[in-house]
Order: sequence, then structure tokens, then C-alpha cells
Amino acid sequence: MEKFIINGGTPLNGEVTISGAKNAALAIIPASILCRDVCRIENLPVSISDVNYMMKALRHIGAEVKFINESTIEVDSRHVSSYVISHDMTRYLRASYYFIGALLGRFGRARVAMPGGCYLGPRPIDQHIKGFELLGAKISVEDNAIVEANSGGLFGAPIYLDVVSVGATVNIMLAACRAEGQTIIENAAKEPHIVDLANFLNSMGADIRGAGTDTIKIRGVENLHGCTYSIIPDQIEAGTFMVAAAATGGDVLIKNVIPKHLESISTKLIECGAEVEEYDEAVKVSMKGRPGRCNIKTMPHPGFPTDMQPQFAVLLALAEGTSIVSESIWSNRFRYTEQLARMGANITVDGQIAMIHGVESLKGAPVRADDLRAGAAMIIAGLAASGTTEIEDILYIDRGYEHVVEKFSNIGGDIRRVTCKDPDSEIESAG
Ligand code: EPZ
Repeated sequence: MEKFIINGGTPLNGEVTISGAKNAALAIIPASILCRDVCRIENLPVSISDVNYMMKALRHIGAEVKFINESTIEVDSRHVSSYVISHDMTRYLRASYYFIGALLGRFGRARVAMPGGCYLGPRPIDQHIKGFELLGAKISVEDNAIVEANSGGLFGAPIYLDVVSVGATVNIMLAACRAEGQTIIENAAKEPHIVDLANFLNSMGADIRGAGTDTIKIRGVENLHGCTYSIIPDQIEAGTFMVAAAATGGDVLIKNVIPKHLESISTKLIECGAEVEEYDEAVKVSMKGRPGRCNIKTMPHPGFPTDMQPQFAVLLALAEGTSIVSESIWSNRFRYTEQLARMGANITVDGQIAMIHGVESLKGAPVRADDLRAGAAMIIAGLAASGTTEIEDILYIDRGYEHVVEKFSNIGGDIRRVTCKDPDSEIESAG
């Protein structure tokens, strides 16, 4: 089992370069099977486990995946032959359900085991199924384990999403881009990764307009071809480093970002007294003195991202005053507050509202990562706290943060990954 050991109290200083966006990669990789050709995908966070699971699934159905360099792959999907993605492929990866839309778009058929992933509360896929059925597919769910989708051809249709859903928007785009006629998705998600997927599909010859607004129009095309595409930088990884800089009272230049994607995070950091300077492809965050309080309400993009809520809560746990955080997307995204309490944070949670009473400082303690972003929050807390913090269950963190130890170490963070032979034995450092 691996852990992170962090000795906190040192302000982060220096420069860090952000990797490609995980949530864009997880939509674009399955999209590459929509053409019988070769797609070259650049600026990919190749070493995060979610991307590795995706590539395993691609090979499982017959695609050839070649590593070109540490952030580029080529997917040759000319010989993709299977429309079945089994449970051992999907159990660790929530986004595996994107193969339903991609396989429907390619073969008109899909048999995909229900996904696993972080537990943030119920994660229904009713809006995905609604979209597929409106496109003409017949969907059956076998004892909540397998989704079987069949279609005698897909036909464009107007689809109104009852809930703004990133996943449903992605899945419908994947299935619709080769459906006959026009599909209009109303109340669509507007996240940067939705726009990135639309740009990737259009590079393959699709006809998608309006991505980034709440109405996306997709005119189906007969064939799609290969392309070369570079994925956008990861908005949430960038935000994580921005908050880490502020929470440790540091001064960090965060490179390879799109400042526009970070607006809600920058605004809230400035409200807490941080200094945020924007450049073309970088932001610089510094914090002098103790952060001030502020209120956060997570919303679909361009609102404050739910995937930044745990990280920002660490800053507020150290702020002067009381902050209110309301989580409007997920019903179970405050579990990390129990871990923060072990470090001295003073947070009361009532349903989807957390009241955070700032304390002067946090104290290092043994904690665990409850999910991907909760794990990122534990790293920030450990770096900001005095003393030593041990983080268990770091597999969650490896799902979405590439080279996380190196990146934090390079800006002064005292963090290392260790392997424990077993709970009682000496900790063997793995560097
Ligand atoms: C994506 O999850 C992201 N994952 C999540 O990021 C992110 O938290 C979420 O979008 C919101 O931004 C990926 O992109 C791989 P949703 P997704 O469908 O698509 C409800 C991370 O940390 N809903 O937008 O699963 C749902 O219950 C991860 O990188 C339905 O009711 O989220 C939730 O309340 C964690 N029916 C809300 O919509 C549906 O059919 C938003 O979910 C689908 C969703």
C-alpha cells in the first residue's frame, strides 16, 4: 500500500506546469473510435490511472494504442471489432460509460457494464438513457449491472436535459455525431471539456455547433476521419495549485492554463485576499498574511466548479471568520471534512451546506483520501499544516493528478510517496 508523507509549513514558491485535462481526455479517448482511422491525441495526462484504464478498454475492443511520447498517443481504431466493455474494464472508471455513446455511434450497438468511480452520492444515468432513446436506441439495464443499447440506426432528435449533466451531454454528442439528421441538446453542460470534445469531433469531420452554450446542435455525418488534436489544460489541476499556493502563503506561477477557465476560482481567491495575476497562458497566485473568509456555491460551469470545493474548503478552514460552502451538484461531497477535523479544522456540515469556522493553523495528522478531489484537499491541508501528515488511499489521487509528488516538490512542498510493506512494518521509502 502507498502513502504520501508531508511535512507542512513551508510556503510554496516557484513554477508548475499543468497537464492536459483529465475530464476532456476521458471524453476524447472513447470518441476516437468513431472513425475507422488513426487519431493522434496530444497534451494527454498519459500517466494518470483513469487515462490508463481508458486505453486498456480501447485495446479490449480491438483498437491499437501507441505511445508516441510522455503526453501523446495514437489510437488506430480501424480494427475495432467488439461492442462489449466488461465489468473488469469499468469497475474503476466512472467515465467508461462514454463507450455506450461511442459504440452506439460506431456500431449501433453497445453492451457496457455499469461504471465504478468516486462515491459522491447517487450517480444516475437516466439523462444519458433518455438521450439515447430519443435518438432511436433501445436501452435495457440488466440488474443495474449492464447497459445494453441497440439501434436500427440513430436519428437526430431534440433532447432537453432535465438536469445539466456533463456525462449525458458527452454521451449524447458521441452517439449523435453520426446519427441521421440534426440533434439539438437543450440545457446542455457548458464545461471547458464539453467544448474540447466538440472541437475534437469537429476535427474528425463532425458538424457540432454551440458547444459551451446551453444549446448544442449536431448534424450527423456519414463518416468521420482521423485527426491530430491537443487537449486543453486541466482547469481543476490548475485550480488545485492556485489554492495550494494561497493556503501555504506562497507565490506560484501556474503555467499551461487557460485563464478564462479559471475565472470563478480566481475571483474567489481574490475575495479571500490572494493576489492573482493573469497572463496569456499562466496565472500567478500569491497570498500574504491570513486568508479572509468567503462563501462558495458550487454550480455548473461557468459557476464555481464542484471539483474545486474540497480544495477551496481547506483555504477557508484557515481563513479569518466563518465561510459557508453549499454543494449543489453532489449529495455526498463533504466526507473530507471529517479528515480535516482530525487536523484541527472547525467545520459543521448540515446536508449540502458546510459552515467553516476558520482556525489559525492546522496540525499534521494521519488522514485518508476519500475520493480524488478530497485527496487533493488533504495534500493542500498537509502542506499548509504544521507537522507531519500521512495520507492513505492515495490511489484516488493518482486517478487524476499526474506527477503530483514531483510537481509539489518542485515548488518547495515537502511531500514523498512511500510504500508500506504492511501496517506494522517499517515504512520503506519509494522516493
Ligand atoms: C462529471 O461527472 C465529472 N467527471 C465530475 O468530476 C464532475 O464532478 C461532474 O461532471 C460535475 O461537473 C468526469 O467528467 C469524468 P454530471 P458526471 O452528469 O458527468 C445528476 C472529478 O473529480 N445526474 O454532470 O458524472 C448527478 O447526480 C469528477 O474529476 C442525473 O441526475 O456528472 C449530479 O447531481 C468527480 N442524471 C448532476 O446531475 C444523469 O443521468 C451532475 O452530474 C446524470 C447526472
